[in-house]
Amino acid sequence: MQFRRLEDADLSGKTALVRVDFNVPRCEDGTISDDTRIQAALPTIRAIREAGGKVVLLSHFGRPNGEAKAEFSLKFLLPVLEQHLGEVIGFTGGDDPVSIKENITLLENTRFHPGETKGEDALAKEWAKLGDIFVQDAFSASHRNHVSSAGLANYLPAYAGLAMERELDHLSQALENPASPVLGVVGGAKVSTKIDLLSNLVEKLDMLAIGGGMANTFLAAQGYDVGKSLCEHDLKDTALKIMDTAHEQNCRILLPIDVVAATEFAAHAPHRVCGLDEVGENEMILDAGPETVNGLADAIDRAKTLIWNGPLGAFEIPPFDTSTFEAAQYAAKRVKRNGLIAVAGGGDTVAALKHAGAAQDFTFISTAGGAFLEWMEGKSLPGVEILTGEVS
Ligand code: 3PG
Repeated sequence: MQFRRLEDADLSGKTALVRVDFNVPRCEDGTISDDTRIQAALPTIRAIREAGGKVVLLSHFGRPNGEAKAEFSLKFLLPVLEQHLGEVIGFTGGDDPVSIKENITLLENTRFHPGETKGEDALAKEWAKLGDIFVQDAFSASHRNHVSSAGLANYLPAYAGLAMERELDHLSQALENPASPVLGVVGGAKVSTKIDLLSNLVEKLDMLAIGGGMANTFLAAQGYDVGKSLCEHDLKDTALKIMDTAHEQNCRILLPIDVVAATEFAAHAPHRVCGLDEVGENEMILDAGPETVNGLADAIDRAKTLIWNGPLGAFEIPPFDTSTFEAAQYAAKRVKRNGLIAVAGGGDTVAALKHAGAAQDFTFISTAGGAFLEWMEGKSLPGVEILTGEVS
């Protein structure tokens, strides 16, 4: 994929407005429970500083709806950033260029401005005065047509930061120009949240494994009785249509061939492995069975590229994490031994792969949730669009 990279930018003596995603999860006591997104932002900041540039960081945090609310302030990040970067970090509301005094300055939550999420031009003009170039380093916010994600590019030359480069290079390697056969693994609770994604993938992939609660809708559409399982019965026709398209496009759909069923949705609830036509009327399917995992392992063996989104079972309650765990570990092994290219993304997915101890062996794990899904849906992302084409 062609896009403007940080190395194309003249950074010396310039101030770069850098869009990062510091929308990080925090514990009740305020500590950051997962700093992946902060770590991801550091190389770009360091590269700009090393090239003799100044940095103004822009990020949202939560959804304060255009109001300055203390609980959404970005102040909590100052000591963290100072520790990582070894420099004093300035902090400002961003309404006055004169307030940018330090070599690195963090702007208060961009979503304190009502114009941010509306993509308001006047706000883009105002923020553009704070710097000379715009560096988009937040792939995870690139699906938003907001001022800090895209609008600034109307007033400043825009370049991808290093984290964005990594995302775009790996994601395009997986879906736009992949080594085939390509296998998709899509799980999660509901078909309704992933119709566009499934419809796009069956047109592009060679094999698509469907797991999690959404697989129940496909099984029900094929006439299986799924008992009390999570199932969107009203989407059976949609499921059948997706399967028809897959057939036309030569995409092989892999559905569970055996399941783990229980009468209670709880950790360590009594459970049993059974065939698709053996689920009792009071039972719920909570995980894929061992035969299904074997079938998936065969597909992983055949694939040269794997794209993974969503858990295969109720992975948050053991032992219904087993199929996700085993398939993820199998894929990780293939990456190490056979050069499989394995890319994953989406909130639950990353948690599931980390839980399986497989995340560090995947070729690439996206930091994005919603943006990763929209990319898998084949949508164009405003914060990426601004990085392609000529600088005006
Ligand atoms: C995310 O956490 O996925 C991004 O930071 C985007 O957040 P948003 O959904 O509030 O725009």
